[in-house]
Amino acid sequence: MTKPIYVLNGPNLNLLGTREPDVYGRETLDDVRQRTEKKASALGLSVEFRQSNREGELVDWIQEARSHASGLIINAGAYTHTSVALLDALLATDVPTMEVHLSNIFTREAFRHHSYVSQAADGVICGCGPRGYELAVEALADLIDRPAEAG
Ligand code: DQA
Repeated sequence: MTKPIYVLNGPNLNLLGTREPDVYGRETLDDVRQRTEKKASALGLSVEFRQSNREGELVDWIQEARSHASGLIINAGAYTHTSVALLDALLATDVPTMEVHLSNIFTREAFRHHSYVSQAADGVICGCGPRGYELAVEALADLIDRPAEAG
């Protein structure tokens, strides 16, 4: 059995749907979770979907992913642009990793143009809204080592 893909969401993403809908859209984080699970299931994968407003909790979950996940999708929210701790945790984690942002961080304020997470990610998807999570699952499906199928 392939281990789940950990999908980790950072601060304020629990407010999706009502938070700056002109930037982030009207889908809730639960809608995003359902989309992500559906895509993963279609590809024979499962998902462990989490959100935290706390940097240390995200670090703990990335460390957990080292042994419990087959792949990692991370939208670190604002910690993307500030957190060396998240970068260090990701650098210590040898599972395929995709960075996702709902908005196109490169068309926004200059402080959003730099990502610490990118340095440890196999790929980055931004500006595609919730669909970005599905695209990240598709990308991971090609990167994850799976046990040979029986038969
Ligand atoms: C975000 C972009 C970040 O700059 C911002 O701080 C977020 C959300 C996105 O998904 O577009 O919280 O990661």
